[in-house]
Order: sequence, then structure tokens, then C-alpha cells
Amino acid sequence: MCGIVGYIGSKNAKEILISGLKRLEYRGYDSAGVALTSDNLDVVKAVGKIVNLEEKINGFKKEAKIGIAHTRWATHGAPTEINAHPHMSCDKKIAVVHNGIIENYADLKEKLQRKGYKFSSETDTEVLAHLIEENFKGDLLKAVMDSLSVVEGTYGLAVIHADQKDKIVVARNGSPLVIGVGKGENFIASDVAAILSYTDKVIYLADKEVALLTLKDVNIFDLTSRPLKKEISKIDWDLEAIEKGGYDHFMLKEIMDQPQAIKNGLAGRASVKDGNVHLGGINITAKEFASVRRIVITACGTSWHAGLIGEFLLEKLAGIPTEVEYASEFRYRNPIIDPGTLLIAISQSGETADTLAALREAKQKGAKTLGIINVVGSTIAREVDGGMYIHAGPEIGVASTKAFTCQVSSLIMLSVYLGRMRNLSMSEASNVLQELLLAPEKIDEILQQAQKIKKIAAKYCKYSDFLYLGRNLSYPVALEGALKLKEISYIHAEGYPAAEMKHGPIALIDPDFPSVFIIPKNNLYEKTISNIEEIKARSGRVLAIAEEGDNFIQNLADDVIYIPKSHEVVSPILSTIPLQLLSYFIAIMKGCDVDKPRNLAKSVTVE
Ligand code: AGP
Repeated sequence: MCGIVGYIGSKNAKEILISGLKRLEYRGYDSAGVALTSDNLDVVKAVGKIVNLEEKINGFKKEAKIGIAHTRWATHGAPTEINAHPHMSCDKKIAVVHNGIIENYADLKEKLQRKGYKFSSETDTEVLAHLIEENFKGDLLKAVMDSLSVVEGTYGLAVIHADQKDKIVVARNGSPLVIGVGKGENFIASDVAAILSYTDKVIYLADKEVALLTLKDVNIFDLTSRPLKKEISKIDWDLEAIEKGGYDHFMLKEIMDQPQAIKNGLAGRASVKDGNVHLGGINITAKEFASVRRIVITACGTSWHAGLIGEFLLEKLAGIPTEVEYASEFRYRNPIIDPGTLLIAISQSGETADTLAALREAKQKGAKTLGIINVVGSTIAREVDGGMYIHAGPEIGVASTKAFTCQVSSLIMLSVYLGRMRNLSMSEASNVLQELLLAPEKIDEILQQAQKIKKIAAKYCKYSDFLYLGRNLSYPVALEGALKLKEISYIHAEGYPAAEMKHGPIALIDPDFPSVFIIPKNNLYEKTISNIEEIKARSGRVLAIAEEGDNFIQNLADDVIYIPKSHEVVSPILSTIPLQLLSYFIAIMKGCDVDKPRNLAKSVTVE
């Protein structure tokens, strides 16, 4: 996600800002920029690594003592210099950096354009620069507060003004911001990593709080300008711990980040009231979609597992025949594609070579194409005809976790969106979206069981083979659970449809070959119970992922991890969470490098 750094003091602001941005590089970004006030307000931005920005401002000789800086993880608008932060007001006197999503930016932008404000970027953030300009009557703090009173969405925000060289105004709602308290100087940052080398005294801003930083002091207010008393905390973390948000590994941080990541993806899109989903970039009209005869989903690895869930969702909710293809197979098979085919490419990185090649093959044959992508502006994102970003934020751990659940959440939204162009009723759509919006808090409930799951992992980490089994929508979850285990713990694990066991795999079962079952209370529950009984009859050990309230399963399985009930199309998101944690803890117990597993890359950009 984006990174923010700010400084006001008597030192050279440029150096402090650049070194602060470098401390935030681990968060993932695609462009960066700084705004510095000396005799006037200078803004310098660059695409790519911070070293590109450094080269551009090396020539900056003015002595600037105040500045704000930003690393951007693109959400609205491709990673270009124009879209990089800071964004400026029309009069070039105000500079703004922002982390978060302004949900009502389109509406605000239209109103400001009608008043004559000229926009240069595709970002939601630029709205803030012109809004503050509109409200500025000489008091920057008041202008920011007045502007935030009409903003909906999340922000971590820093603002400076060319004519007010003695202050920085910052505000927070939903995106972390911390104030570093120095002697005759003050700092701001998205997280402590950026400023820890200058001060270990910090004030954590809470949501809907605004702060005015001057050389000497820090004053904090609520959005009605009421002054607030905040305590100064002392940081005792080391830098390494901070980059992981206090977690031991990026993978664990990203597993724990899933409620927020899914919320970010749903923000401004899923509308229960309308019984529909608002998507900006699908670029398919109802008329065009009416002529689509079938959908082909293509992807690799975890994204392919999300595709299998997408197949079920699109057929159930959008009522259209759908098939899923490994991209590496699809691209060489001379597939039958025609203008009635819609191809959906799913990719976290947007750079996977096989998926990109499959996309190009389908386009070559006349298919309309969509992308379900995490990295904004990535190659696949730029080559599809339309699509949606999953807004999972940067996924640093090689094993995909939050990207998978955000892909599934996005596929649910896409299926509702396309379904509502066909026969999906408003009430069914509202029902699905209602359940989807509850997913973040249900994931939180499961994450609270981390210690219990760790204890179960300790019982299973000694085994060297596993079967993961599930039916229907639980089958792709079984595949994903098996992939998680094998790729980070190097233990052999296979996912299978539960009913397939008797066609061979059951020959493997013995007391040293455990099985993991995903067994929601649905119309296939009894049949899955029979599969578990077949395993137990052969002394196989069983770990069940079951629904709260299912007391029967405890009589059969050796261990049970319970997840909250949910709509059947949302259940794959929930049932994946325990499997991610199980794999994580087993891999740790085996001393594996969970963030960088052997032989694997985060993005497979070669064949
Ligand atoms: C998942 O944990 C793996 N890292 C891998 O299977 C990954 O899902 C696959 O390489 C596809 O990557 P993409 O989503 O970036 O295209």
C-alpha cells in the first residue's frame, strides 16, 4: 500500500524524506514523489524505484526545511508520473499526499470541475488538493477540516501550503498515520519504520483525527476542531519487526490483513440496497454480454484455484457456461475461441508469463477479455479489454493468501454484476452481497483461533503426506490448502474431490497419512461424512474444517476447526483461512522460510 513521510524542522527535509521513503519500500510501490517548501513549493515525482526520484531531485539545491513525500501503490489510475503523489491545487500552492480510497471522488471531482478546477491525473487523491484549495481562506487547518467533512472513504493525509511555511496538516481515517515527536522538529509517517532513526517518541493518530505540526509542537483535534489530548508513546520495536507490522513474517501479516483487504475491495462497489455491484472498468455492456455464449477462465497456481471457484459462481449467479484452463495448457492447445467467448485472466502479479501468453492467444482469436488483477498497471491489466482490481494491497509473501481471498471476493462481485445483466434477481443479488459484506468480520473470528490452530499444527507437522478433500466449492479450497502446505513446508500434499478417493487415493491411507476435510453443512454433508468414515475405517487421521454448530463431526474427526456459517458462495473464503494458518504454523515448526520458500518466485515471469 502507499507510504507517507513528512518533516518540519531545521534540517534538510529532502534527505529525511528520501531516507524515510526507502524505509517504506518493503510495502510495495510503483512510483514516488516529494513536495518541498523553500522560497516556493516544489514538487518532484518519478515512476519506478525511489532511486529514480533521487536522481531527479539531486539537482534540487534549495534549503527546504518542510516537506512531504509519498510512495504510491496504484489503485485508481496507472502507475505514471502524472498519477504519482504529491498532487497539487490549481494555483500550485497546495500539495497533498494520501494513502487510502476516496469512495465519493467521482462525485466530488465532477462538482469541482463544474467550478472550473482543472484535473491532470486519474487519481482519487487529486480531488483532495482541489477541495482544500476551494476551502482555503487563509487557514490551512480549517480548509482541511472543511474538506474532510464532505469526503467519504479512507485516508492518511498530509498537506502543505506554499505561503504557510511553518506547518504541516495531517489527518487520518482508516489508513495508519503516526507523528514522530522530535526536539525542534516533528515528523509524520505511514508507519514508524520511516522515522525510527530520528525519534522513538510517537503519537498514533486515531481515525477522524487531524493534527497541526509546527516546528515546536503538535496539536491534535477531532473533525469538529475540538482539541484532543494524546499521549506520547515510546517505540521499542526494531526496524525489521516494524516492516512486518510486528508479525514474524509477511505471510502472517498478510493472512491477518485479509479482513481489511477484502473490505478495501468491497468499498464503493457492493451495494446491498441496489442489489448490484458498481464496477468502473469492466467495459462490457449488457448488450455485449448478451452475446457471450461461454466464459473461459485462465490462470496459474493459486489464481487457478480461484478460477475454479469462479466457474461455480459464474454458472450459478450469471447463468453462463464456464470452464477453467491452466494457462500453460491453454496457450499451446490451439483452443476453440470465437467472438462469443469471454476470457477472464486471473493474476495477482499481472505478470505471469503463461497467463499473459494465454490472454494474447485468446485475443488473437477474437475473444473479449477481462482481468481480475492485484497489481495496478501490470502487463495483463494493460492488455485486457476490461477488468477489476482486487485491491488486496501488496502481497510480499511468495505464498498467496490475501490475494486469493480477494480474488474470490472479486469473482463473487463480478458474477453478481454479470448475473444482474441476465436473470439474477435483485433479492438474490442483495442476499449474496449481504453475506459477502459480512465476510471480513467472520474472517476475524477465525483468525482469533490462531493459537488453537497452532496447537493442531503441532500434532500434524510430523507427517510427510497429506490428502486435502472437499466437494463442490470445497474442492478448489482443498487444492489451495494442499498447495499452501507443500509450497511453504515442502510436505507432500494432494487436493482431491472427496468422492474421488475411492477411485485410487484411498489406497494411500494409513495412520501416517492424514486427511484434511472441508465439510460445510450443505447438501453434500452426509456424502462427505461417508468419505470421512471410509478414511477412519482404515485408521486414517482426519482434521475437519467444519461449520459452527456441527456437533456430529466431533464424533468422527480426530480434530476439528470451526468456521462461522455463511452463504455457500462465501464459504470458500472462510474455509481457506484455517488452511493458510495450518500451513504457516507447520512450516514454521519445520524451520522453513515461509516468506521465501525454496525454488519459488513471487511472480513467474518466465515459462
Ligand atoms: C501461490 O501461492 C503461488 N505463489 C503461485 O501458485 C501463484 O499463485 C502463481 O504463480 C500465479 O501467480 P499470479 O497470480 O501472480 O499470476
